[in-house]
Amino acid sequence: MDQAAALQKPTSSVKVIAVASGKGGVGKTNTVINLACSMAALGDRVMVLDADLGLGNLDVMLGLAPEYNLQHLFAGEKKLTEIIIEGPRGIKIIPAASGIQEVTHSGTLEQNILMEQMSLFEGEIDFLFIDAAAGISDMVTSFVRAADAALVVATPEPTSMTDAYALMKVLCNRYGEKKFYLLLNQVSGEAEARRVYSHLSRVGEKFLDISLIFLGYIPKDANVPMAVCRQQAVVEYKPESPASRSFVEVARRLRSLPLRSKSGGLQYFWQRLAGGDNLGQG
Ligand SMILES: Nc1ncnc2c1ncn2[C@@H]1O[C@H](COP(=O)(O)OP(=O)(O)OP(=O)(O)O)[C@@H](O)[C@H]1O
Ligand SMILES: [Mg+2]
Repeated sequence: MDQAAALQKPTSSVKVIAVASGKGGVGKTNTVINLACSMAALGDRVMVLDADLGLGNLDVMLGLAPEYNLQHLFAGEKKLTEIIIEGPRGIKIIPAASGIQEVTHSGTLEQNILMEQMSLFEGEIDFLFIDAAAGISDMVTSFVRAADAALVVATPEPTSMTDAYALMKVLCNRYGEKKFYLLLNQVSGEAEARRVYSHLSRVGEKFLDISLIFLGYIPKDANVPMAVCRQQAVVEYKPESPASRSFVEVARRLRSLPLRSKSGGLQYFWQRLAGGDNLGQG
C-alpha cells in the first residue's frame, strides 16, 4: 500500500452522528440522550458531545453536574479526559459550558485542542453523537457536514418543517450534502409521520435533489417532559412508554445502517471540522 492509500485508510470505525434541526426546542437533546442510552444498552460504546457550546444543557437533562466543561478544555486548564463525565449506561459525555458567551466564538485553536485529544479515544468508542445547537450558524453546519450522518429532527409543526428544510438547503447548496436522515418527533402517529416525511422528502428531492431517509418517529408522549423534570432519559425512567419503545426501535435501525465512516476515525473528523468554516463564525 502506498503512503497516500495508507493515509486514507480508515483507522477506526467510529460513526459520527450529528443531530440538528434548524428550529430550537424540537427534541434534539432528548433524541441524543435516548438514542445514546438505547445504543449503549444494546452493547455499543457511545460518546456524546454537547455542541450547544454556550448554552449546553445535556448534562442538566441527565441530572449531572460536571465540575468542568469545554470552556476549561479550551482555556487549557483541563484535559479532555478530565472533563468527560459518565452518564447512564456508561455513556461518555463531553459537557458544554452554559452561559459563557466566549465559548460560542471557538475557533481553530479550540478545534485543534479537541482534535488532538479526541484521537486518544480512537478505538474506544463505536458512536459519537453530536447534539448541535439550534439554528443554521456556521458552527452547526460545520459539525453536521464533518459527521458521517446528518440526523435531522423535526416535528410536524410547519415552522419546524420549514427550518429543517432551510438547514438541509444550506448544507446542500453550500457544501453539497445530499443525504440526510429524518427523525420526526412529537408525532400523533404513523399516519402523521408518513405525511410529514413524504412532504419533506418530496420538496427536498424536487428543489435540492437530496435524498431524505426516514429513520422513524417518536410519538408525543407526556412521559418525555416528566423524564426531563426528573432529569432522566425517558428510556431509563419509563422503558415501556410509547416514546421509549420508539427510541429503542430507532436506535436499532440507526446502528444497523450501513453508515460509511467518512471520518476514517475521530482525528479525521476533527480535521474536517477544522478544515471547514471556523466554528462560531455564524
Ligand atoms: N416526544 C416528545 N413528547 C413530548 N414532549 C417532548 C417530546 N420530545 C421532546 N419533548 C419536550 O420538548 C422540549 C424540548 O426538548 P429538547 O430540549 O430535547 O429540544 P432541543 O431541540 O434540544 O431544544 P434546543 O434547541 O433548545 O436545544 C422538552 O421540554 C421535552 O420535554
Ligand atoms: Mg438541546
